Order: sequence, then structure tokens, then C-alpha cells
Amino acid sequence: MQSQKILEMKSISKKFPGVLALDRVNLYVEQGEIHFIVGENGAGKSTLMKILSGIYADGDYSGDILFNGQIKHFHSIKDSVNCGIIINQELAMFPNLSVYENIFIGHEQTKNQVLVDWNETKRIAKKYLDMVGLNVDINDLVGTLGVGKQQLIEIAKALSHNVKLLILDEPTAALNEDDSQNLLKLLVQLKHEGVTSIMISHKLKEVESIADSLTVIRDGQVIVRLSRENINEFEIIKHMVGREIEDIFPKRPKYEGGEVVLETIHFNAFHPEKNKYIVNDSNIKVRKGEVVGIAGLMGAGRTELAHSIFGNPKKYKLSGSTIVFGQPVNLNSPHKAIMNGIAYVSENRKKDGLILTENISQNVTITALDRISKYGVLNFLDQALHTEKYVKSLDIRTPSILQQVRNLSGGNQQKVQIGKWLFAEPRILILDEPTRGIDVGSKYEIYTIVNEMVAHGMSIILISSELPEILGMCDRVYVIAEGVQTAEFNIDEATPEKIMQMATL
Ligand SMILES: Nc1ncnc2c1ncn2[C@@H]1O[C@H](COP(=O)(O)OP(=O)(O)OP(=O)(O)O)[C@@H](O)[C@H]1O
Ligand SMILES: [Mg+2]
Repeated sequence: MQSQKILEMKSISKKFPGVLALDRVNLYVEQGEIHFIVGENGAGKSTLMKILSGIYADGDYSGDILFNGQIKHFHSIKDSVNCGIIINQELAMFPNLSVYENIFIGHEQTKNQVLVDWNETKRIAKKYLDMVGLNVDINDLVGTLGVGKQQLIEIAKALSHNVKLLILDEPTAALNEDDSQNLLKLLVQLKHEGVTSIMISHKLKEVESIADSLTVIRDGQVIVRLSRENINEFEIIKHMVGREIEDIFPKRPKYEGGEVVLETIHFNAFHPEKNKYIVNDSNIKVRKGEVVGIAGLMGAGRTELAHSIFGNPKKYKLSGSTIVFGQPVNLNSPHKAIMNGIAYVSENRKKDGLILTENISQNVTITALDRISKYGVLNFLDQALHTEKYVKSLDIRTPSILQQVRNLSGGNQQKVQIGKWLFAEPRILILDEPTRGIDVGSKYEIYTIVNEMVAHGMSIILISSELPEILGMCDRVYVIAEGVQTAEFNIDEATPEKIMQMATL
């Protein structure tokens, strides 16, 4: 049977000031396929999908979009939705509205085309939730549900729009293993029901597991299109980075031991609204030049532990003690934590980590402005020189250090955040999911930087949901389950099974 192209994008080019984000890109997807777009951070993946979904309107780019063989001119996201092309957008949910309101916002079911028929709306919402296999109360507020469930609601919403082509831009980036698997299964199921999808992901294992075909983009150009039989992790990496990577984790000498630089003793954090301990009797030790992992499921309290050590910005009720460089300290503000040599790279770069409307330079140097000021006057040349240094060492892809951070690709934003905290020259650096949304090549660079930092005596606390990353990068690991520290392993005795077992008590 001749397969049919549902989508063709022909010779698409898109310029931003100083950046040719897409350079005559050709991409096609066949009816009923799960097609992946992969490539390094800043390659142009999201931009291409924004063009396809009308976020960048017709006229803002050159080239043609053909959907079911017909040329389309989308002037807004509404136009693409009307054709059945639906893109999931980060944070597009309304946390204070219910599940069914979120599904139907903007296209509620009406009676006589005037009044909203809420009963009908709810009934149909339930039907879509069943289709995505989500068992929640349709009256629940979306904000109270985990990200995995929110993601499924997004898909239920897409179904309610009669989706033909579903576009998912890094949908599993913030999901745990189980939720990711559920989502992938759902995509396969939807495929059998006739929904074609395009997915962007940096998780090459999941690409390998469900892709029917994929397109690799590098520096705005298509490098190759692979189909099922040629898809494997190493083949993808080779095309993505243009060279072979032998080992995903750069080697580091075995840890030799050193003085304890940070210690928590019977340390607790109580969450007044949840009325429970989110950190329950934490006793961790971190030594000089050591990488200490914190493993656990999402929601286990790993980020809460990090926040509690890093000046407690959420104002939990803390008890027990924290010892930093041998001194008991009361780190009651992030500023105080920074003064004590501690820095924290947030898992949520957009919300807590960066000022998106400011440029790279302002973001990178904000943590230690006094280092580049004299008598309270900022030395712009110094600021620029320092920023250039991090842009270079972290390989931040940008036309200039004066680029607004919100215009950077997701992965490059993350690198800016890391640069910002390195600029504070911390002695203890907490990295919370540092490689979320980061491409394989850049991951390797970040791991290399971690290795350099510990070689210079810095200590790292690495919170990660990716077990290979914990096992590949840490000297020692603590496991946390529901706020409670359940195990400690030296890395040579840790295995994925042992960690998972202790994480799911
Ligand atoms: N609004 C914008 N203004 C200026 N430059 C932009 C804008 N949006 C994207 N860019 C630039 O275009 C290029 C492609 O960005 P894009 O977000 O498409 O990358 P990506 O492949 O999705 O990367 P990632 O994997 O990191 O999300 C990058 O160099 C980025 O900095
Ligand atoms: Mg992107």
C-alpha cells in the first residue's frame, strides 16, 4: 500500500535577529506515524513546530506547509487547530480551573448555541479522560494534579479538538519513568486510532522505543531522515552531534575522601499547608570534592530538601541542624546560603532560575554583582568578559551575550542558569535535575564541568530522576522516599534495582 504524507514542510527558513534558526528545512510525516524530531539544543526543533502550529504566522517565515496535500497558510494557532493540528504548550493549563474546564476552555458544549451545557461538557470530558486512561475526578483543580496527569489532560484536550496531527514538544521532560511510559503507550494507542504525532525529545531511549521515523536537525538544517529499521541511540547521536561519543559519562578518578563540608543532623522541614513533614529526619554528609546523589521518585521531597538547605525560600518550618564547614548555621534566606558558599541550580529554570526578560549577561552575573562593581558602579566590560567566559565554557548558543534569555532554546537557558551559579563561585553546588531538556552533547559538557569543579575541590549535590546519571556521575548516593531517607550507597555498591527498591517503600 502506498503510504500517504499527511504533512510536508518544504524549504522552511526562519530568521531571528542574528540567527538563522531554520535553513531550508524539508520534513515530511506519513499518515499514522509517530515521527520524532531530534537535535541539539538550539537546533531549531521548537521553532519548526511553532511555524507548523501558526504560532509564527504565515509571512514570518519562508517555505510551504502542505497538510493532506493542500498548501496551508496559518495566521494563528486557531487556524492550525481548525485543521486538527494541535501542539501541546508548556504551562498552557489553568491551575485554578477544573479538569473539565481546562479540556473545554474556549469550546464548551452549548445548548441552542447560547448557553453552556455543563452536564454535556462534563460527560464528554469524562469520555476523553477515559480515552487517555486517566482516572481523576473531572471537578479536581488541575493545579492540584501532578505533571504527569496534567500532560494526559493536555492530550485529552487535543482529542476534544478532533486532533489529526498531535505535536508534543518534550512532553516527558518533566515526567517520571512511569508517567513517561504511560504517555508513550498512549501515543502508540492513538496511532492505531489514526492520530499521527510529531514528538520532540532528548530522551533517545524513548525515541528508540516508539519512533516510526525521525528527522535529525543540526544548526537549522536537516541532517538525515531515518526510518524504523535504522533507528538506534548511537546512530542518532552520531547524526546529532556530528561525531561519535563513546562514553556518555566522562571518567573521573575514584573519590579519595575529604573533610565534611555540609551535614544535616536530624533535619526536618514541616509544610504547614500540607500539614506534614516533607523532609523527615535527614542526615546527609557531603565531603569536599565529592559528588553526592539524591535519588528518589518525583515528589519524594528531594527538591524540598534542597530548598530547605538553600535558605528555605518557601518558608517551611525547619528543625534539627545544618553544619556548614564545621559551623552550625541558620540558613534562613538564600542570600545567607550564598554567603555560606552554597548555590542551587533550580529544576524549574523558567520559574525560579532566570529572569527571562533580561539578557544573558545580566542573568549570569546577578549572583555576585559586587565582583564586577566598584563603589557600587557596575563595570560593564568586566561583566561582558565574565559572561563571555561562561558562554564559551558552557557552549551557550547565542548570537550575543546581550540576547534576552527568553529567546534562547530551552537547553541553552539551562546552561545560562548553571553559568549564573558558577559565577557565584560556590563551594557547595546543588544541581536539581541539571540535564532536564538537555541534548546528549551538552549533557556530556555539563558532566565534564562537574568533574572539573570537583577536581578543584567543589562539592556537588546532584538531584536526578535519571538513574544512569546518578550511577554515572556520583561517588555516593542517598535515596529518599516520601521525605524519609531510606538508604545510602557507595556508588560501587549501588544498582538501579537497589535504588528503585528503596525509592518505592
Ligand atoms: N524568539 C526568538 N528570538 C530570537 N532567537 C530565537 C527565538 N526563538 C528561538 N531563537 C533562536 O533560534 C534557535 C533555535 O531555537 P529553538 O528553540 O527552535 O531550538 P530547539 O531545537 O527547540 O532547542 P532545545 O532543545 O534547547 O529546546 C536558537 O538559536 C534560539 O536561540
Ligand atoms: Mg525546544
